[in-house]
Amino acid sequence: MIDYKALLKEKLQPLKAEHRYRVFTNLERLVGEAPYALWHKGKNSKKVIVWCSNDYLGMSHNPEVIEAFSKAAQKYGTGSGGTRNISGTNYNHVTLEQTVADLHKKDAGLVFVSGYAANEASLCALGEGLENCVILSDEKIHASMIQGIRHSRAERHVFRHNDLADLQTKLASFDSNRPKIIAFVSVYSMDGDIAPIKEICDLAKQYNAFTYLDEVHAVGIYGDKGEGVSGSLGLSHQIDMIQGNFAKAYGVVGGYITSQEDVVDYVRSYASGFIFTTSLPPAVAAAAQKSIEILKSDSSYREKLWENVVLLKDKLSKSSVRFVNSKSHIIPILVGDAYLCRLLAQNLLENYGIYVQPINYPTVPKGQERLRITVTPAHTPQMINELVSALEAEWNALSLKKAA
Ligand SMILES: Cc1ncc(COP(=O)(O)O)c(C=O)c1O
Repeated sequence: MIDYKALLKEKLQPLKAEHRYRVFTNLERLVGEAPYALWHKGKNSKKVIVWCSNDYLGMSHNPEVIEAFSKAAQKYGTGSGGTRNISGTNYNHVTLEQTVADLHKKDAGLVFVSGYAANEASLCALGEGLENCVILSDEKIHASMIQGIRHSRAERHVFRHNDLADLQTKLASFDSNRPKIIAFVSVYSMDGDIAPIKEICDLAKQYNAFTYLDEVHAVGIYGDKGEGVSGSLGLSHQIDMIQGNFAKAYGVVGGYITSQEDVVDYVRSYASGFIFTTSLPPAVAAAAQKSIEILKSDSSYREKLWENVVLLKDKLSKSSVRFVNSKSHIIPILVGDAYLCRLLAQNLLENYGIYVQPINYPTVPKGQERLRITVTPAHTPQMINELVSALEAEWNALSLKKAA
């Protein structure tokens, strides 16, 4: 007899042995309390400060966004009632699609249940539909993009991270008549670095390639209206497909793509991950719509975020803590060991009420384990000071490698 349970349980052993078994932190993020949250541990709970949320601008607790969500839920109920094709297209989905298209100066948009689904479904459909196509992807693209490319069964080549020379060599090695897709990300979420978008677009033009850009960690934050890095550089028109989501800076959930009308129509008509799943609840679409509208017209959220990012980076640069002084709002703290990374996070949580989730393999390569800190507009200068002091104290206590 096959013991399925034992076979699967055995698979967990290496994760535990390598200190990369995922332990979830059970939180209650209460409206009006951010960046504090209640941490539940067994029967006890304790107030902690969250330093790793992707709710970058605190929009998930924004009163107007909550009101849009609640009103739409009262009006339309909790579920959409079907897939987009079978009774699940609601006025809110259609409006939201026009809004994201407009945000990125594109003809059309398409909304998915998540950013993951948007990437997986769109890249899979593109790779399948463009006959004999080859996909060139940056080595640090998100898992959802990798899965989409794999599922497309198109030939795939990986270029070194943000390495234009490597990308060019690879582009030049294919017949000029062969369809080519360059898949990359604007803000890389684990390193916090930003792609050379203009230069990649120039190469795409030279080699007649289709560009696919993930702006998940950029929309809402970069650009005067939150239009992402490509938009902030005036390059939206040079990207063939821009993908984003509503789950990070917009504080809701769901994903999208924007492109030319016919290209979006192709994905709408062929992408399995779009077609065969129940659409987003209308209330979610209404909340996302409100959040985008707010961040299009009000820069104060972004300004406060950047004030805090600059302050935190400044404090860290005066400490012995090793961190990446990236150009983005994401601040990686480099530990370089899975066990010590977990221990550092645990000590911060238990001794100081500071919550930062450790990031281990396979999210980052082995030896590059880190804490990924995100500050929000709700953090105060005092909280930032206390974070850096606690980090430094624990860093020294664990004899971690000091900043040069
Ligand atoms: C770069 C990138 N793309 C896509 C996604 C998936 O987005 P979502 O969380 O909306 O599924 C993530 C998620 O963290 C991401 O980091």
